[in-house]
Amino acid sequence: MDRIRIVGGAKLTGTIPISGAKNAALPLMIASLLTDETLTLDNVPHLADVEQLIRILGNHGVDYSVNGRRAGEGETYSRTINFTAKRIVDTTAPYNLVSKMRASFWVIGPLVARMGEARVSLPGGCAIGTRPVDLFIDGLQALGTQIDIDNGYVVAKAPKGLIGARYVFPKVSVGATHVLMMAASLAKGTTVLENAAREPEIVNLAECLNAMGAKIEGAGTPTITIEGVAKLHGARVAVIPDRIETGTYAMAVAMTGGDVLLEHARPDLLENALDVLVQAGAEITPTNSGIRVRRNGSGIAAVDVTTAPFPGFPTDLQAQFMGLMTRAKGKSRITETIFENRFMHVQELARLGAKISLAGQTAIVEGVSSLKGAPVMATDLRASVSLVIAGLAAEGETTVHRVYHLDRGFERLEQKLTGCGATVERLSE
Ligand code: UD1
Repeated sequence: MDRIRIVGGAKLTGTIPISGAKNAALPLMIASLLTDETLTLDNVPHLADVEQLIRILGNHGVDYSVNGRRAGEGETYSRTINFTAKRIVDTTAPYNLVSKMRASFWVIGPLVARMGEARVSLPGGCAIGTRPVDLFIDGLQALGTQIDIDNGYVVAKAPKGLIGARYVFPKVSVGATHVLMMAASLAKGTTVLENAAREPEIVNLAECLNAMGAKIEGAGTPTITIEGVAKLHGARVAVIPDRIETGTYAMAVAMTGGDVLLEHARPDLLENALDVLVQAGAEITPTNSGIRVRRNGSGIAAVDVTTAPFPGFPTDLQAQFMGLMTRAKGKSRITETIFENRFMHVQELARLGAKISLAGQTAIVEGVSSLKGAPVMATDLRASVSLVIAGLAAEGETTVHRVYHLDRGFERLEQKLTGCGATVERLSE
């Protein structure tokens, strides 16, 4: 198992290219199941989760081909990939594939909409809470799907097709909004989704579906209206830049000091998180080519944050922000409202000398003047990168074990950081 060795202390200076967003690429790839024509996606990041979803889609009969690599670029850069689901050969998504990644459960929407049936294993993914699928089941039932649970599988049937309906989400869910938007695109009649997720990845999926011939309005607002169509066709769509990767590197710069251009980053995708960083003392400047982040002199100020669905502060940046706050001047309170078990990084950060206490869903971080390098364990995708951020600012050497979590969601992390002057290397055990 690989590990990452970091020697802390260097300021970050230079340019970091921001990759396509994992959380946008996954639903866009799944949308290829909705049509027998080719869906071409640009800017798909090279990540373990993307490779895993390619395997899952392949099991349903989706062919893919990779092109668009620029001269001189290796295997690990964002790519253009063509997905073609000419014929769905299997409507079952088995446990051994779905258990590795929660988002693969989302195939249930397009499969039942196009084929009238789907048998999808209950999901896996990061161990950050119970993450049930009740909203998917409720929502698909509202569109006329019959659902049974059989031996750990959700069995969805709609032999006569789905029927448009009004569905009010009792709780905001990114995944359930993706799934219902995809399913409703091929339903008979109009679907209105209320209290829908507003994340930029939802907007990217709606753009993709509309380019495929769907009729979706209101994505990015709490009310999404989908007028069903009989058939969808091929299209070419670009994956948006990764706002979580952007926020992560912005926090790394705020932590170490320095001056970095986050190339291709879009400030509109993470307004709230950028505001918080400014309050913490970072200088954030949108430019024509991305976002420039600087921090000089006066150190990091303590800021309180509470995670919330978009446009609030993203739960996927909570661990990284906690990493930053370990060095702040004063006390910050970080409250997690989306997932109930997303503080696993706390005890690992403590190994580096951080002072953090937990009170229910709130972490109270008392900034310390310095962190000291130590061996630490990655526990989930975002938690693991918070340890990298802390390691970059710690004195001496930090080794992050179980880096396969990082490989799920961060493209070329070591290269991007070393390119800006950090000492980061991958070691094989
Ligand atoms: C997506 C993101 C993940 C991010 C999360 C919240 C992807 C691939 N993953 O995950 O990185 O952290 O949004 O921004 O895009 N819930 C239910 N019942 C359901 C579904 C969800 O109770 O049927 C709950 C979850 O347990 C959680 C909350 O709703 O407490 C939000 O989850 P959701 O928005 O669905 O997260 P994901 O789509 O899984």
